[in-house]
Amino acid sequence: MTIRKFAALAAGTALLTLAAGSNAMAEDSVEVLHWWTSGGEAAALNVLKEDLESKGVTWQDMPVAGGGGEAAMTALRARVTAGNAPTAVQMLGFDIIDWAEQGVVANLNDVAEEEGWADVVPAALQNFSKYDGNWIASPVNVHSTNWVWINKAALDAAGGKAPESWEELVAVLDKMKENGITPLAHGGQPWQDATVFEAVVLSLGNDFYKAALNDLDPEALGSDKMKEAFDRMAKLRTYVDDNFSGRDWNLASAMVIEGTGGMQMMGDWAKGEFLKAGKKPGEDFVCIRFPGTQGSVTFNSDQFVMFQVGEDKQKAQKLMASAVMNPEFQSAFNVVKGSVPARTDVPNDAFDDCGKKGMADLAEANSGGGLFGSMAHGHGAPAAVKNAVNDVVTQHFNGELTSEEAVEELKNAVAAAQ
Ligand code: BGC
Repeated sequence: MTIRKFAALAAGTALLTLAAGSNAMAEDSVEVLHWWTSGGEAAALNVLKEDLESKGVTWQDMPVAGGGGEAAMTALRARVTAGNAPTAVQMLGFDIIDWAEQGVVANLNDVAEEEGWADVVPAALQNFSKYDGNWIASPVNVHSTNWVWINKAALDAAGGKAPESWEELVAVLDKMKENGITPLAHGGQPWQDATVFEAVVLSLGNDFYKAALNDLDPEALGSDKMKEAFDRMAKLRTYVDDNFSGRDWNLASAMVIEGTGGMQMMGDWAKGEFLKAGKKPGEDFVCIRFPGTQGSVTFNSDQFVMFQVGEDKQKAQKLMASAVMNPEFQSAFNVVKGSVPARTDVPNDAFDDCGKKGMADLAEANSGGGLFGSMAHGHGAPAAVKNAVNDVVTQHFNGELTSEEAVEELKNAVAAAQ
């Protein structure tokens, strides 16, 4: 379904609800804290805003930029401490559990039961949408982080074959360098460095990823394989331009879109930027799994966690929780966002080839034991561990630690953060 058709349908539903006399009142509003501030992200958020507006719910925006949501979580802490929580907050994995433990989130059991969420939301997501058996969040998508986005013309000029192994990847990057472009478009921010790092770790084996970045096994964290992961990171650093430090991820995407950069290693929210720029998968850009991770997926799911709010806001809050879970909405939203639906019953018809691949890969990884929580995006371990990993990875990427030192630091920092 196209977005326009979806909007028309949503508006129609609103009219029917109005006729039935049970519509949201004009003053119904939701205040939503999120970090969707890039062009592609804002376009996706608009699908939600318009849907809610068609249901008579006004949107109060509270954007806090920064991938991975660290800055957003800091802003949230200030609001909750002041006793003034937003209605809904975009949140990832273990952060959801942390907030639920504080006893400040709402209970969505009535909507969830009425709409049968338990039957359509995959168990890996329900682990974070529910706390103590109660629904507290509506999952809006499943992103995955082990993707590479390649400029098609730059790939053609580098031989035309998408790399399938580490060796092939290095060969393509070398060729792009020879061709005079920045082979690897990258933004030097800890969460971006960590996004590349976890793909590199996954490329050294499913068991290794799980042991190191989900189970936090000191042996895996301190292993020779981990040294190899850091060596590969040091190699990737040689393909990044000198101005990478602090660059936002969407500016790195723009380099690939424009062809000054060859490829970006980034979660599938990057696709939202390509689409927003009018680029077509297969024609203008190519999406592949990070070489060596085919068949496996590191996932993260954006969920809207509902906070305890005054009675006057609860109706709109429930309307939002329900709207997010609507299957047509999940299709329309995720087509724009670059992610895939958080429900198993949404058809893939409206998705482009990268989206269809994303859905198929997720199903394959899920049934084949290759689905793992993304460490960089809050689904591998609680925030304290994630931040400790990010710090070490960034220091190493910036040349402040050798690979040997990084392995030792990683093992110690993870142990100290638990
Ligand atoms: C979120 C995405 C977002 C990305 C960059 C990730 O942590 O899950 O929805 O687009 O950060 O902002």
